[in-house]
Amino acid sequence: MAALLAWQEITVGSGLMLSAASSIRVDPDMLVHQVQAAIDSVPDEQRNRFGNPSGDWTAITLLYKDQKGMPVPQPPLAHIPLLSDLLRDAGIDPFGLHITRQPPGVDLKWHFDHQALHLDICRLLLPVRVPAEAFTWIGHEKVAYPPGTLWTGDFALPHQVENQTDQERIVIAIDSPVTPAIQALFPADLYAHAEQRMALTQQAINALLPFRAQAH
Ligand SMILES: [Fe+2]
Repeated sequence: MAALLAWQEITVGSGLMLSAASSIRVDPDMLVHQVQAAIDSVPDEQRNRFGNPSGDWTAITLLYKDQKGMPVPQPPLAHIPLLSDLLRDAGIDPFGLHITRQPPGVDLKWHFDHQALHLDICRLLLPVRVPAEAFTWIGHEKVAYPPGTLWTGDFALPHQVENQTDQERIVIAIDSPVTPAIQALFPADLYAHAEQRMALTQQAINALLPFRAQAH
């Protein structure tokens, strides 16, 4: 196995849980069917393409909140009742919902977001169609969760998503304020030890920044 990068070393031996599956599962076959219907309902020229050099689409918005904080569901969401039911049943009131697509051979390079269950906002992920060899680095851990399993990680830490396969990777991203109802879906260890997390996160970011400055 290749050596860990400087910012990955920081969490080694910390004992912190860096990602976990929630208690929620949905039928993966039904999910892929409904999400494909949602994708097909959006003309290619209306799909988002940010961050992709090849020009293929990378995201379809399912819901956003307007300036008054009112949720604005988008037409393709109507094709995924499985997702609307999941959100309602789990008491999740997201401010953003997207189908995200990572084209074959495209990695989401090392970066960090202010999203984790010990912070005020989080990103929950629902894999839809994921190649077997694709995975996410979170700190020093390499993780992959199967279709239909709602999961999240400590995305305040540097993370990188690799898809060096010949297939696309389709995942639904659910962005929400952290609530006790959401935390209760996950093991408490995923948001415990907030002070230790934040201290190690700062160290990891400090280790990553010079590398990113060099790369750009
Ligand atoms: Fe991220």
